[in-house]
Amino acid sequence: MPLYKLTARLEEMKKLIQDENKIINCVADVGCDHGYLSVDLLESGICKSVIASDISKPSLEKASQLASSMGVEDNMKTVVSDGLSHLDDGQAQVIAIAGMGGELISEILQKNESVARSAEKIVMQPMSGFEELRRFLYNNSYRILEERLVKEGRRIYQVMSVVSGDAEPLPDWWNENMFFVGYDMFKNHDALIEELLLNLRKKYCRSLDNSSVQPENLIKNIADIDVLLEKLKEENNEN
Ligand SMILES: C[S@@+](CC[C@H](N)C(=O)[O-])C[C@H]1O[C@@H](n2cnc3c(N)ncnc32)[C@H](O)[C@@H]1O
Repeated sequence: MPLYKLTARLEEMKKLIQDENKIINCVADVGCDHGYLSVDLLESGICKSVIASDISKPSLEKASQLASSMGVEDNMKTVVSDGLSHLDDGQAQVIAIAGMGGELISEILQKNESVARSAEKIVMQPMSGFEELRRFLYNNSYRILEERLVKEGRRIYQVMSVVSGDAEPLPDWWNENMFFVGYDMFKNHDALIEELLLNLRKKYCRSLDNSSVQPENLIKNIADIDVLLEKLKEENNEN
């Protein structure tokens, strides 16, 4: 019986972290909890060392125990820390932040900005707050490198990698309210984009039925989803 197994969501994080051309010196796994990703990155030889951190001591203890059981403890430093506060500029070439809300991720990047900007790549998997996170990234000069969707059970997760630098311009028809999905996954016709948009549409329609206050935002979201679905249809017909 294996001690841990990466699910599809963390497998996708791993793929975006990996550099095909080199073994990464150091990855910082922020909010590592059980430590599955940290340990797996070492086990699979994607990086030489990991700094695994969590704001919760009990979480970190789980990660330390797993590292010892898997025999990778010499290359995995564990530290109780809020966000990136334990890191020096350039200490981690890749910063991984998975399983937190988008607003919290934005706050973490903002709080220790020079550490975040010194990384070669930041790989993130927000659980919620996608609009807030993307708005933060676009308004604060982070360039999206890749965005992907991955399905685990019935849920579709969003995974993205970014780097400090000028954002790629978005097309005229794209507006900031569409940040519940990434332009990149739309442009690249991610296999799950249509399903994600339809799921979101259903969710917003349900909220609309149950809400009497401020339905304008929901109506706007549904209208934006319809624009995106229409664009997808047009592009599929062209190809
Ligand atoms: C849902 S778990 C995700 C664990 C793992 N990264 C994953 O994706 O499977 C979120 C973890 O983030 C940690 N966390 C929350 N806020 C944090 C912060 N400001 N700095 C570091 N860790 C934090 C929590 O203690 C928890 O262990």
